[in-house]
Amino acid sequence: MPPKKRWRIYATTSEIPPEAVEVLESVGRVELNRTSTSPSKKILMGKIRDVDGLLSMVTDEVDSALMDRAKRLKVVANMAVGYDNIDLKAATERGIMMTNTPGILSETTADTAMMLVLAVARRLTEADRYVRAHKWTSWTPKMMLGRDVHGKDLGIYGLGRIGEDVAKRALGFGMKVSYHNRTRRPELERKYGIAYKSFEGLLKESDFITIHVPLTPETRHSIGARELSSMKRSAYLVNTSRGPVVDEASLIKALQDKVIAGAALDVFETEPLPADSPLLDMDNVVLTPHIGSASVETRTAMAVLAARNLVAALKGETPPNLLNKELARKKTI
Ligand code: NAP
Ligand code: GLV
Repeated sequence: MPPKKRWRIYATTSEIPPEAVEVLESVGRVELNRTSTSPSKKILMGKIRDVDGLLSMVTDEVDSALMDRAKRLKVVANMAVGYDNIDLKAATERGIMMTNTPGILSETTADTAMMLVLAVARRLTEADRYVRAHKWTSWTPKMMLGRDVHGKDLGIYGLGRIGEDVAKRALGFGMKVSYHNRTRRPELERKYGIAYKSFEGLLKESDFITIHVPLTPETRHSIGARELSSMKRSAYLVNTSRGPVVDEASLIKALQDKVIAGAALDVFETEPLPADSPLLDMDNVVLTPHIGSASVETRTAMAVLAARNLVAALKGETPPNLLNKELARKKTI
């Protein structure tokens, strides 16, 4: 028998495809936030009171205060693989299921990381600005010289799903790949011929460092002044994980003092990037607005997966991407 359409669902964005809305509507009444930005904390506090399911974005802070306002909340489905915006412990204590969207966005995000490696090495955005500013008056041998990536050492900090997909791409570009991960991955070392290094070794020996760890208390500011100064002066830092993994003030100083050669950043300590950020004035920095997984195909898949997770929880099933596994067999409805 089909489930009764009785649940109330709130999605913090209207920018989800019709196929995801259809999945949500199969079990209940759906309200989409129609504003062009995330709802304010005040609005979310009001909405959360009477909903059974919340479809959230990385920009929504789901903390204990928010959950305490909820009278019937059973599930929060985050449309992202990262879930540092959610207090998972508080959710578990309250019996609220939390889900994310792992795997389906790995290739697209790895493409973004590789795109940024190439862009910062070959000065892509600077060259684009040069042409648009009508500065290209003739071809000269030294105009816009960058650095090759082939033959260079790429250090992957965090060899999980995305890190592995970056390794595959970098090998295709003729790079030498090494990694540092909390858990050593010998099977991947053998499969791809990549080397494990200590964190210090990775920083010291890499020409490019690309970050793919989640934001946790352990990884927050794990790249600061000391770590940057241990990198090669010719090295580049690429971040597509979360801004606060890097101490941004120290990074800005390191770039200003030429401690490292450049950076390519998709994520920042404050998003959107404040208008007075010194990063905006640096030619050796490539900036993108948190678009790691931003392809039509992947964002569609993420929205549908988030909707399926949410619906599974409301139907009393274990969602495919349940984060608080402790709740898997508990009856929460
Ligand atoms: P994942 O599969 O869980 O991989 C993360 C890896 O980091 C794991 O291998 C983990 O090691 C390792 N790690 C965790 N803490 C560590 C530490 N303290 N030191 C060293 N390694 C550590 O996650 P994923 O799917 O690849 O996603 C990674 C992150 O990318 C997400 O959390 C998200 O923040 C970010 N992301 C950003 C975008 C974007 O739009 N820019 C898009 C997608 C994802 P273990 O094997 O020991 O667990
Ligand atoms: C995006 O930032 C994600 O974590 O999926």
